[in-house]
Amino acid sequence: MSLFITFEGPDGSGKTTQIELLTAYLRTLGYDVLITREPGGTSIGDQIRDVLHDVKNLEMTDEAECLLYSASRAQLVHEVLRPHLARGGIVLCDRFADSSMAYQGYGRELDLKAIHFITQFATGGLRPHLTVYLDLPAEVGIERKHSAHTAEAGEWNRLDQQTLDFHRRVRQGYLKMAEAEPSRWLVVDATRSITDTQATIRMRLELLLSKAKKVTVK
Ligand code: TYD
Repeated sequence: MSLFITFEGPDGSGKTTQIELLTAYLRTLGYDVLITREPGGTSIGDQIRDVLHDVKNLEMTDEAECLLYSASRAQLVHEVLRPHLARGGIVLCDRFADSSMAYQGYGRELDLKAIHFITQFATGGLRPHLTVYLDLPAEVGIERKHSAHTAEAGEWNRLDQQTLDFHRRVRQGYLKMAEAEPSRWLVVDATRSITDTQATIRMRLELLLSKAKKVTVK
């Protein structure tokens, strides 16, 4: 049984912590779990990530940014995601195509249809079974990232430098996508405790696992 689960949310929403906790849990249940992230997750993807996040790359156009995220994604899908899913494993991915819709589409205000088309091309149509969105007001996300940065615990990237309005548009974009496709999305209030958030995610995942098992048995 293969499952592809993605995590979305602003910087500082706790995606990494939730992914680590969920991985440990699923592994104790005996599942073959692979964790990866975007942009990056492959050698080529990590090189693209450096170009994308370098705060010196001020001249990067929005279109180039969009295509670079997609290029990294194409490599990850081909090299990592599809092979693991084909072996019947579970993939937990820190960001995926919905990030491009949210940041480049709603945030940068690039054409949503164009991003959809580019994403299809890059992924060959691979879509998550479940997308967990850790929702946080834009101000709180930025504040959390700031404290992490000053404590040298976080990486400060080009996207973090955007205005509060940009981050608000990104959040509205996520909420809109989640509303349009509730069967794929789980929206969790990320101001809640780590334990509560994890419990909510596990509950939804168990539902998905039991459904997937029934399908496999048939
Ligand atoms: P990262 O340092 O991985 O932070 P985070 O913990 O928030 O995931 O930075 C990823 C950044 O890249 C984040 O600001 C969102 C942005 N991004 C896009 O703009 N478009 C995309 O398609 C992806 C995958 C990420």
